Amino acid sequence: MKIPLAKPFIPNTVLKEMKSLIKKGFLTEGNYTREFEKSVKEFINCKYCIAFTSATTALEATIRALNLKSTDEIIAPNFSYPATISPALINNIKIKLIDVDINDYNICIKDLENNITKKTRAIIPVSVFGNSLQYDKLLKLRKKYNFKIIEDAAAALGTSYKNIKVGNFADFTIFSFHPRKSITTGEGGIVTTKKKSEAEWLKMFKSFGLMNNKKSKFEIVGSNLKMSNINALFGIKQIQIYKKILKQKKNLAKNYIEQLSGCKNIQIQKSTLGSEHSYQTFCITVENRDQIIKKMRKDGIETQIGYYALSEQNAFRKNKNVSFSRTLRNSSFLAKHTLALPLYYEMKVSEQNYVIKSLKKYI
Ligand SMILES: Cc1ncc(COP(=O)(O)O)c(C=O)c1O
Repeated sequence: MKIPLAKPFIPNTVLKEMKSLIKKGFLTEGNYTREFEKSVKEFINCKYCIAFTSATTALEATIRALNLKSTDEIIAPNFSYPATISPALINNIKIKLIDVDINDYNICIKDLENNITKKTRAIIPVSVFGNSLQYDKLLKLRKKYNFKIIEDAAAALGTSYKNIKVGNFADFTIFSFHPRKSITTGEGGIVTTKKKSEAEWLKMFKSFGLMNNKKSKFEIVGSNLKMSNINALFGIKQIQIYKKILKQKKNLAKNYIEQLSGCKNIQIQKSTLGSEHSYQTFCITVENRDQIIKKMRKDGIETQIGYYALSEQNAFRKNKNVSFSRTLRNSSFLAKHTLALPLYYEMKVSEQNYVIKSLKKYI
């Protein structure tokens, strides 16, 4: 049996409509992009949604929207993918890395408060693998210290906290549509925000600085980060059935939890209290992770490491704009021990049971 880690579900209707799109020839950003933005906005029930070429470019545009100085600082969790902090560093903004919670893998709130200084202008918490942040606590801190929250929700489309979808809490929330995410546009990302002025700026920035709806009026220095109609079409057809995809993934996650809870040497990522995890990834920690990956591969099963301890990567370890304390123990532990298990919409229970049986042989 061959079992991949993730497998995008692309409905057949994409093919039919792609033919007509190709015939029309409107391949750059256009009506399909608008429709995708509208569908995501309705799904999240948020105010503004702006599509980009990826979550990374969406993050970079968002950081530029804040107009920070090189002496300003952004706090970010040390357990993540490099794309969480690279956009700030590319723009010469300082990053302070702090530790995460060992159980839910998200930013450690106590560490966060201890590290806020007068230079802190923003934080980039990550809703790791689709697990919600503790918004009550984060919003209280935002009020007390007055910083912006840019949520890296790359993996959290469909996650909710106290019955409100992620995308409605932070000043800016960024989602990714890379093929490992629950729905994909090939490459793609979206930013949500509540403020019209910020949404307008982001739209201008991603379109060469062109003022909205006004041809030949370049208001700001911009870039080209537009999501094409081609990419958007994939997204439209998947978001139409995303509730079904989410339900199925949650059922499969429940089966993993039932069968792996209490197993010696396995700890399952804990969901934040009051939240609904969307399980972009189902992740556990195990003792001898790298050996298990190799052994399961021999059984035909693809597993993967979780995220990285960013402070241990060369790009950031000696970077003059990155600071961190030497004691980021939890992120260091999680980087060595997290194991992502296969999970995708079309996964059969028999396939999942095969994964569980193989894992249990090697722990
Ligand atoms: C937490 C996190 N942020 C950002 C990204 C980057 O997303 P994209 O590939 O859409 O740029 C990823 C990609 O895996 C991610 O996991």
